[in-house]
Amino acid sequence: FPIHKPEEQSWSFAGPFGTYNKAQLQRGLKVYKEVCSACHSMELVAFRTLEGLGYSEAQVKALAAEYEATDGPNADGEMFTRPALPSDYFPSPFPNKEAAAAANNGAAPPDFSLIAKARGVERGFPLFVFDIFTQYAEGGPDYIHALLTGYEEEPPAGMEIGEGTYYNPYFIAGKSLAMAPPLSDGQVTYDDGSPETVDQYARDVAAFLMWAAEPHLEARKQTGFSVMAFMILFTGLVYLTKRKVWAGVA
Ligand code: HEM
Repeated sequence: FPIHKPEEQSWSFAGPFGTYNKAQLQRGLKVYKEVCSACHSMELVAFRTLEGLGYSEAQVKALAAEYEATDGPNADGEMFTRPALPSDYFPSPFPNKEAAAAANNGAAPPDFSLIAKARGVERGFPLFVFDIFTQYAEGGPDYIHALLTGYEEEPPAGMEIGEGTYYNPYFIAGKSLAMAPPLSDGQVTYDDGSPETVDQYARDVAAFLMWAAEPHLEARKQTGFSVMAFMILFTGLVYLTKRKVWAGVA
């Protein structure tokens, strides 16, 4: 039973001039908040960075306050919880890894901070050669989208899957995983008229996770382009200089 290859989606942040679509990132954050954050933390992502999604300082404060942060120790040497501040990070809903695993059939839900970069797609020769120039990095979001939309009710005839696991031919590490299909149509309300479908939710949350893993992608791509343009120009100048310097040598 081969693992299926994720289908390539079209992403606004693809290619050397790619940029994030802020409306999409905001929808993805909503999906993360209302669905995924029940199990998945994002412990390297601070609330303050959400200003990068187009939110104001006041909105970020309000968003952070929806979560609880652990602080302390206080004067009595005890830890305590308080509403999160913009300087806090997306917390884990579980007190520790063991509790997270115990609540999920033995498999702890992975932290989301870098998941879009930690998963990818094998491109193979010759594509990976061009990938350097097109700055290909969409394998992670493609995988997340495929995983979320790729669950099947029943494993194929003759396949046994572990108890409490769900068949998904896109999962990289086996035939089935401990995460039940997390999304269903109409589950999250969008107020910008985007379709409230599993496919759209998966697309939006995958884009959001790409942003979480690489918030400076746009700046990196712009710099990368200027560097390449400069290198090409510089190569030409060096070549002309070389011809001039060596012109009189027989
Ligand atoms: C694993 C995405 C919601 C529990 C994963 C993985 C991804 C993911 C990308 C990693 C798969 C891999 O290792 O390749 C999402 C998204 C969600 C969501 C985008 C929201 C839309 C949830 C919820 C729960 C959950 C609500 C708990 C009820 C788990 C568990 C695993 C997992 C237990 C580990 C599975 C295993 O290794 O067998 N999820 N998830 N997830 N997720 Fe979620």
